[in-house]
Amino acid sequence: MKTISKKVRVPDLSLMKERGERIVMLTAYDATMARLLDSAGVDLLLVGDSLGHVILGLDSTIPVTLDAIVHHTSAVSRAANRALVVADMPFLTYQISPEQALQNAARLFQDAGAAAVKIEGGRPVAQTVRRLTEVGLPVMGHVGLTPQHVHRLGGMRRQARDYEAAAELLLDAIALEDAGACAIVLEAIPDAVAEEVTSRLKIPTIGIGAGPHCDGQVLVSYDMLGLFDTFVPKFVKQYAQLGESILSATRNFATEVRGGIYPQRSTSEHTSDALPAFKNSQPRTSYENSHA
Ligand code: KIV
Repeated sequence: MKTISKKVRVPDLSLMKERGERIVMLTAYDATMARLLDSAGVDLLLVGDSLGHVILGLDSTIPVTLDAIVHHTSAVSRAANRALVVADMPFLTYQISPEQALQNAARLFQDAGAAAVKIEGGRPVAQTVRRLTEVGLPVMGHVGLTPQHVHRLGGMRRQARDYEAAAELLLDAIALEDAGACAIVLEAIPDAVAEEVTSRLKIPTIGIGAGPHCDGQVLVSYDMLGLFDTFVPKFVKQYAQLGESILSATRNFATEVRGGIYPQRSTSEHTSDALPAFKNSQPRTSYENSHA
């Protein structure tokens, strides 16, 4: 597979913004997918807590555990060659105190090989962003629709839809930048709000359902590839229909197995020379096997 060579590092993100180079981020949860996305030149691989939906079949990200994110981040880190690996910190692994966040983040960097973590929220988590950043752990912020706040928000709704909410969101984004965040995900907010926030920040914004004016874009890879059809948000563009390919390939396999078409001699291994002797041999007893 052809690879784009230079490894992406955290300082590259702001440089890319300065140079007007759009940042490409996708979620990944396993080594095979990570290797493919990395080879295609994705800049950032996010081990999102969206794995609760697409990998674990949960109906929210709230029950996702730190152990699960460590497990999947380890797989993605082993496969990522060029892309920078960002791991989501799950619900209640960073909100209790900056020290709790530091201890949990340490596992993602030390055990799982992440190069940055992402946490949800604005001003309430700014102190935590500062603490992690000061000890050398890069943090990506996430404002707008923050799925870990689904109960308070009353569902997965678009955010910052009026002047006051947009102004609050801008204050959150500025607080995260001031605290040292290396980038901020803007999720499900109006294009004009995302454009204004992006122009006010030095660090890059990475949009999802936030219009074309962000410094980069992220999608859940399973949505983008047409693999997850339980719920497809309006802003998702499906660049493939892998779900349909998998269904059709699996149906073909099942039909051929049931019809005795697969495997055929041409797809089986032949043990032709040994076969006649094997067929005529007397099986050994388990006693003979263990004393042979
Ligand atoms: O968990 C996730 O996949 C995310 C992205 C949607 C930004 O947070």
